[in-house]
Amino acid sequence: MASVRSTPRDLTSSRLFERSERSSRSELATRPWDRAPEGTPPARRGAASEAADGGPPAAYARTRTQFTATGSNAPLAADNLGGHLCVPTRDELLSALQIVRAQIPPTPTIRWPLLEQRLGSTVFIKHENHTALGAFKLRGGAVYLHELLQREPQTRGVICATRGNHGQSIARAAALHGLSATIVVPHGNSVEKNAAMRALGATLIEFGSDFQQAREHAMSLAADLGLHPVPSFHRDLVRGVASGWIEFFEQAQPDLVLVPIGQGSGICACAAARALTGAASRIVGVVSAHATAYLDSFRAGRVVEAVVSTQLADGLACRLPDEQALAIILREVDDIVAVSDDEVAEAMCIYFSDTHNVAEGAGAAPLAAALQRREAFAGRSLGLALSGGNVDRAIFARVLAQA
Ligand SMILES: Cc1ncc(COP(=O)(O)O)c(C=O)c1O
Repeated sequence: MASVRSTPRDLTSSRLFERSERSSRSELATRPWDRAPEGTPPARRGAASEAADGGPPAAYARTRTQFTATGSNAPLAADNLGGHLCVPTRDELLSALQIVRAQIPPTPTIRWPLLEQRLGSTVFIKHENHTALGAFKLRGGAVYLHELLQREPQTRGVICATRGNHGQSIARAAALHGLSATIVVPHGNSVEKNAAMRALGATLIEFGSDFQQAREHAMSLAADLGLHPVPSFHRDLVRGVASGWIEFFEQAQPDLVLVPIGQGSGICACAAARALTGAASRIVGVVSAHATAYLDSFRAGRVVEAVVSTQLADGLACRLPDEQALAIILREVDDIVAVSDDEVAEAMCIYFSDTHNVAEGAGAAPLAAALQRREAFAGRSLGLALSGGNVDRAIFARVLAQA
């Protein structure tokens, strides 16, 4: 299968992969959000500063959100993104961190020598496959349901659409709070993810041929059954998922982090955690070359639909991007790389050989992107989200057998 490669829309690759202005650090001496208020806020990285140091034209400049050092709650870049909210505030992130820490132990960030040799770089793997659900999504569900019950304590049941990990997260959090969970999946969804959601107590409904159809059905059932519809992208999901990236940036601040994009909560959470920790890492998104809606939208600067045909990266099977997520991505993300199912399969095999971790397709996509861009990334330190390991046994067996 041919791979589709993205070209940076606004930066030449030599500029994109220059070292970030702060050198990468493996440890944070102190956590910026613990520091006492002090003087002037950091300069906003935006059109003016990019243009001054020879960067892209102002119209295309990326803006990293930064928080003021004076303890102000608002991100400096919190101007309204054409009606869309920016990344969560410092207080929203810290309160979410508390909710997550009460329920979910931190996951490790590990450097694997074989993987580093293979990539020729320093590589930090954030092992979100080590959570209680085998994927990062449980962080978002924990915060979303906590906040929902604060706002609407009368809620008795929730419903959502999923390809699997979001549904597990919502089922788990619902069970914790004694709520019912109804989960809609498209026909042909992962057998083992379906089983895991049922085991968490969810009522599973199969509907439609893709995630979008499952989502529309879930929304109409919500009204009929009086259930709260949990979206796939929401500020509270981003707040929860940011906890994992805060853990990461506390330990490592590489030149680049590679983050898979499905509906966008993971990458927006990464941008929020970067702002909170003061990390300077550039963020590169990774999509499936067989589900390029976010890449196409990133290039077009507006929401663009794309057909989905990935057979391996179900977590990245997005047909219609979320407008708020796209607004944040356009602002905070330096580039998006597309990886084919063949490249993802190879990355799954390499994860297994080099680290003996099982990565599902979406979880292996950042490694696939790092391998695809090996030459462009040479000499840069990398952070890769191994965002989940929930691959069906039959699929994993096939992937390993074809290696
Ligand atoms: C393992 C895995 N990685 C990445 C993603 C994409 O995450 P998001 O939808 O937050 O962009 C998903 C989504 O379900 C996933 O399950």
